[in-house]
Amino acid sequence: MSDNPQIIKHVAEGQMCCDPEWEAAYKRFETPEEEIQKFKSRLTRFGFPSLPKDSRIAEIFCGRGGGLVALEQMGFTHVEGVDLSDTLLAEYRGPATLHLADCLDLPLEENAYDIVIVQGGLHHLPKIPDDLEKCLAGVRSILKPDEGRFYIIEPWRTPFLTFVHLVVEQPLMRRIYAKGDALAAMTDRERVTYEQWLAAPDVILRSLSKYFQAESIERRWGKLAYIGRPI
Ligand SMILES: C[S@@+](CC[C@H](N)C(=O)[O-])C[C@H]1O[C@@H](n2cnc3c(N)ncnc32)[C@H](O)[C@@H]1O
Repeated sequence: MSDNPQIIKHVAEGQMCCDPEWEAAYKRFETPEEEIQKFKSRLTRFGFPSLPKDSRIAEIFCGRGGGLVALEQMGFTHVEGVDLSDTLLAEYRGPATLHLADCLDLPLEENAYDIVIVQGGLHHLPKIPDDLEKCLAGVRSILKPDEGRFYIIEPWRTPFLTFVHLVVEQPLMRRIYAKGDALAAMTDRERVTYEQWLAAPDVILRSLSKYFQAESIERRWGKLAYIGRPI
């Protein structure tokens, strides 16, 4: 357990996740610098450069905090992260407040956040739609009722994604292309929840529509990019 003083611990030891093999592959997939650049590009496409820099932002399923660093480098000053892996949170270096907590039971102030972000976390939930709806209800409850916004980037079954998996899962490709091998290894470890997520686009969009009014939905290059306001 990290003694990083920025980590507020909301779960008992036994409740923490995660899978060391998945985490090892996640760290091989991209360097922290590549990851931060990717997050900055995504946030820019979402229009973050024009949002107030003092927006109160929570990134849920934040992992080792690359998304938090991207926000900080873009000038945002009130940033918090939530994840259930103490080992990943311990790798973060920066001013954000971190919460070691379950995103199914968000321990954050209600009606207080301008922005909640998730980048590749919802597809780890074991039960769709039950866990998803628990998480969405929590996100809605912490967002400011009118001006709050929920930003989502998650994998989505598109022809591009099917092609990528076909390529990186070839044994030869796994031997010669390290990044592809890391992706294939992550997918192997999270296969059940990942496949379940990809197989349920209509269920997912229906659950989202119970808690949020969509302002933008894009499905391309193997990703869902979604912006919603609480209803
Ligand atoms: C694919 S990673 C994404 C991390 C980060 N958003 C990124 O893109 O680098 C998924 C993260 O979800 C976390 N996680 C899985 N289930 C969780 C839960 N119920 N509550 C909080 N975090 C969870 C894992 O520890 C992991 O860090």
